[in-house]
Amino acid sequence: MIKKIKQALTMLNKNQDDGTIKEAPVSSMANKNEENREKAGWVSPAYYHSRAVHLDPGFLARNRCLAYLDNVPEAEAYRVLRTQIIQRTNGARSRTIMVTSALPGEGKTLAAINLAFTFAREFKNTVLLVDGDLRKQSIHKYLGYDSGKGVIDFLSEGAPVSELVTWPGIEKMTVISGGRPCQESAEMLGSPRMKELVSEMKERYPDRYIIFDVPPILTGADVLTFAPLVDQVIVVVQAGKTSMEDVGKALHFLPKEKILGFVMNRCQAA
Ligand SMILES: Nc1ncnc2c1ncn2[C@@H]1O[C@H](COP(=O)(O)OP(=O)(O)OP(=O)(O)O)[C@@H](O)[C@H]1O
Ligand SMILES: [Mg+2]
Repeated sequence: MIKKIKQALTMLNKNQDDGTIKEAPVSSMANKNEENREKAGWVSPAYYHSRAVHLDPGFLARNRCLAYLDNVPEAEAYRVLRTQIIQRTNGARSRTIMVTSALPGEGKTLAAINLAFTFAREFKNTVLLVDGDLRKQSIHKYLGYDSGKGVIDFLSEGAPVSELVTWPGIEKMTVISGGRPCQESAEMLGSPRMKELVSEMKERYPDRYIIFDVPPILTGADVLTFAPLVDQVIVVVQAGKTSMEDVGKALHFLPKEKILGFVMNRCQAA
């Protein structure tokens, strides 16, 4: 299985050696969903009150959010990962997953976004993607829209959860952005309000995978304070960059029983 993930992630990198992504000439999930909805004359009532945003397939492709697109081979790595997560969380009541890494820039945000798109494609699952990197919110930037209200607005201003949720036009996916940057991120993530927010998300969406993009482990106390609130942890490791020593140090800060597995990012072709 690890070999399969490596092969797929290697494929992901092969097209990205020059730092650019070729725009995929394929239709997007949103287009397909729109067509289907139009044909059926139906609009999803569940997302009626969420702020709707438009995603641009070309922009997403340039930002390496490839799992949004149909029939791209690079998405296979995420399908393998999704299958493993579903197998390991099947039957579990709560499915909150935190995506982190030892160091900055290893690919956490991209992995969280692509994983969320991949879950939204699975017919049985719905997914909520949450930006938990309160210092440096970037999910909305990768997806190409203004953050609007986010986690920080709930924590510091008491904004209701319903005002935080964005619907990116994909039937089974919603997003909560980080809002504006906040320097007391660790305190915020470990606060009773954050605990309340995660509980509310779990209650509101009991059948849903909730994926949190969070900061790196070794650069602050954020993950340490947030880990107790989630059910599972995925650790992104950048191949050829992160040392075993740093991975070991990072694991020391995580509850072992919550570690779902590792994503070896940017593997070179064997
Ligand atoms: N598999 C990949 N192939 C090529 N580039 C990648 C890959 N994964 C991530 N990148 C690039 O690496 C950079 C960092 O990615 P990303 O923002 O996902 O990392 P991060 O771990 O969330 O960073 P931070 O710690 O700053 O939040 C981005 O420019 C992204 O496009
Ligand atoms: Mg990030």
